Amino acid sequence: MRKDIHQILDELQTVFGAGAGCEGPLSVSGAGIRLTGVDLRPKLLPEQVAFLLDALSMFGIVTIPGQDLETFSLAHFERFANHWGAPVPHPNNFMRGGKPAQSDGASDGEIEWIPFEKRRVSSVNRAFPGQLACLAHESPTVLVVSNIKEDTSGPVTVGQGGSWHTDIEYEPLPIYVSMFLVHKSPVARGSNGSWVEGPDDPDTLKPYLEGSEDELIRRRKRLPLNGETAFADTAAALAALPESEQAELGRVQIRRRLNEGDEGWLAPLVRTNPRSGIKSLHSPIWASRPRVRPPVELDGMTMDESRVFLDRLESHVLKPEFRYDHLHAPGDVTLWDNYMTLHNSPPIKSNIDSLDDARLLYRLSCKGEPVQTLPRKDLADWLDAHISGGYTTPDEILDVS
Ligand SMILES: [Fe+2]
Repeated sequence: MRKDIHQILDELQTVFGAGAGCEGPLSVSGAGIRLTGVDLRPKLLPEQVAFLLDALSMFGIVTIPGQDLETFSLAHFERFANHWGAPVPHPNNFMRGGKPAQSDGASDGEIEWIPFEKRRVSSVNRAFPGQLACLAHESPTVLVVSNIKEDTSGPVTVGQGGSWHTDIEYEPLPIYVSMFLVHKSPVARGSNGSWVEGPDDPDTLKPYLEGSEDELIRRRKRLPLNGETAFADTAAALAALPESEQAELGRVQIRRRLNEGDEGWLAPLVRTNPRSGIKSLHSPIWASRPRVRPPVELDGMTMDESRVFLDRLESHVLKPEFRYDHLHAPGDVTLWDNYMTLHNSPPIKSNIDSLDDARLLYRLSCKGEPVQTLPRKDLADWLDAHISGGYTTPDEILDVS
């Protein structure tokens, strides 16, 4: 259960000192907590990690603003991530069997890490010379999320936003925690008071598949306009349903597949957080990766029945009362539990030619069990089964001062 905010403040100040503070919940649904005065550069004490794990288990989203980007490095960030799970290399950062790793999920080909200079995102460092450069890193676990391209001469366009999803829900062991470190968030505002007015093509169905009801499409497409990450609280959405329906959902198993035609495996729709005991819906979406991964099937239902069932549930979860748009600011570390939330990327300007439009974030994602002390002791077999290339964070990152 969620503790009272005064009790949380007491516990926070006991482990992080009297200079720490908290605000929450951040959303009307009860999700989200902001912890201030917490410096993530020093190695964390086990009791500090336990406090943070508890906070995430109760609120689903934790934001820790105010990291000093002059001294807080991506090594500090990756060490911090190790407490939440084993950091997962992002497929944009390696080749598998000589092909981009994103292009097929099932290949067992040899892994080749791509150095930062050869990654597409390295163009960030050439777009605004002398004014903006990515924080230095070579780690394959860091995903650079940016709207900055080397060539800034094209017309500025505004995308549709993404599809609602959780991270890597399509693998047998899904991502548990994902986190952003924010370097730049857009500060430009137009005549409507927002960064963008909306997508350039608001009537397109993209990126969704045809066939959903209008109300669901409307809820999916209602996205924030200042570059915020959009969240939906799947714990509050589950708790709002009648108890009999919650019990019924607790028995639902979803067949997930990496690729079309695979046999796949069964995964529970409802998860119970082991620390807080809060139940939530994990990825209650029929096709969360349209045209990239196959839609899911509920055990004992046809594909059409599965779609009707999950579209109805997605529509419920995306109601305004379960939504929270998280505004980013430089120096924020924001993490979320992928079992307790859905998220989506907003409409974003591309081909920008002003730093006021720049959106630059670094994402890390973690699998497996959290640990209070480092280094992690994941077994080699487990790493080989669930973490690309069996990656583990090297000592020079864990020992960063
Ligand atoms: Fe995501």
